[in-house]
Amino acid sequence: MPTEKTTGMDSQLLEAPTKHEKMPSAEEILGNLEEAPKITDKLNIFPFEWRVETPRLMEIYEQSRDPGWNPGQLPWYTLEVESMTQDQRYAIAYWWALLSVFDASGPAVFARAMIHAYEVHEEDAIRKCFLSVTRDEMNHEEVCGRAINCLTPGGPLGYEPETELGRLARNNIEWLYHNGSRYWSGYKKAIEHYPMPVLFSSFLFGEVASSTLFHSMYESTQIPVFREAFRNIGRDEGRHLSFCLALLKEVLPKLSEEDKETVTKQFRAGFIFLSGILYEPPHEFWQLPDTFIPAQRLLEEKAREAGFGILTLEKRKENWRTAVVRLKTIVEPYGVKFPALPEIDVDGETVAFDADKIVPIF
Ligand SMILES: [Fe+2]
Ligand SMILES: [Fe+2]
Repeated sequence: MPTEKTTGMDSQLLEAPTKHEKMPSAEEILGNLEEAPKITDKLNIFPFEWRVETPRLMEIYEQSRDPGWNPGQLPWYTLEVESMTQDQRYAIAYWWALLSVFDASGPAVFARAMIHAYEVHEEDAIRKCFLSVTRDEMNHEEVCGRAINCLTPGGPLGYEPETELGRLARNNIEWLYHNGSRYWSGYKKAIEHYPMPVLFSSFLFGEVASSTLFHSMYESTQIPVFREAFRNIGRDEGRHLSFCLALLKEVLPKLSEEDKETVTKQFRAGFIFLSGILYEPPHEFWQLPDTFIPAQRLLEEKAREAGFGILTLEKRKENWRTAVVRLKTIVEPYGVKFPALPEIDVDGETVAFDADKIVPIF
């Protein structure tokens, strides 16, 4: 007997969306199983497992989930562009464009490395650490873009420089980007060519260089928003350095003699490439016109005048040397020989240079 409350509810009942006449039997299905085609493509991207061989990498990855800053929230409003001369703006924007050859290629470079790590079925911790570095590098690239556009709207190339120094900056930037694109074609080949330990040794060089550079720029810059940016980027780079060290501690002792020799060569290549920002660009890699260095020196002087902390050539040499010696003391105990870097008075092995297979990045 329906109560008063349920009267009329029958008509509101909804039909279940699916009705089976008979449920399938698992046993029957198993009897008809068809095997899936074997995955024959070695470079398939599917992670069949989430193994962690280097727990330290996972710990650093956990710390990196929140980098603790974001380029959009830097105090850009404190940048007094109006109080700078046009040449000072061109000069500071020029330095950010120079940096972007290294830092703004970071997202694509590490994203590529991450895909590669998936393809060759590296441990989960390596895949994740590449993702984290890619994320950070995207922030660094954003800072380059924001800085350039605050100082030279439409820059680095989409505006018309109005002074002589501005035109020199423009020409230099075009040459820098020409070399940046040469780096990318080399990197694409190198990433598939070298085993992970060799790649990480090369990345290590980039991270030693970048953490050194940003630390010095932080210390010597007086413009608050750039100081803050350098502090944060430098901290990220320090974390990237920890990623590299954590992995290399495990893999360097197992490196074959042949791979060790490759690392030595890669260090020489890294030095030549990274000198483009840490020091001055050597001609072994850098295709630049004769006007490049004199123009860059003028631009650097102008940027310094505005409180932007580019070190003097002498200090850069000293700084670069300290960084390189730091790298040398990390790898030498593992039997990796260091290349001679006569440009900054570092002794070592004389090695060939292959401009086509440069790996290092920031
Ligand atoms: Fe980095
Ligand atoms: Fe970076």
